[in-house]
Amino acid sequence: TYVIAQPCVDVLDKACIEECPVDCIYEGKRMLYIHPDECVDCGACEPVCPVEAIYYEDDLPEQWSDYYKANVEFFDELGSPGGASKVGQIDADHPLVAKLPPQAE
Ligand code: F3S
Ligand code: F3S
Repeated sequence: TYVIAQPCVDVLDKACIEECPVDCIYEGKRMLYIHPDECVDCGACEPVCPVEAIYYEDDLPEQWSDYYKANVEFFDELGSPGGASKVGQIDADHPLVAKLPPQAE
């Protein structure tokens, strides 16, 4: 799966959403999350993110390694909705993200 990491927090550019052929990029409060079971590893989202927040799981930089878990656990309660557009914005974040200070410069 691909993973969204910390650079997305408080940026939420959303260019990635338009590229995803399976609509598996879900919007939380402060960042977006890729559904690990719904992502088909097409990689289309990765180059369009202006802040380089998206990585293939094996290429995730060391300092953001926890974001693999954050993307997976974000869906613990949601399950597999099968499409982000029908879910809309989710009023929650993974605890790792929720506890971060404001990231905007
Ligand atoms: Fe975030 Fe980049 Fe998408 S900032 S919303 S991962 S285009
Ligand atoms: Fe979609 Fe990116 Fe996966 S475009 S299918 S989330 S690699």
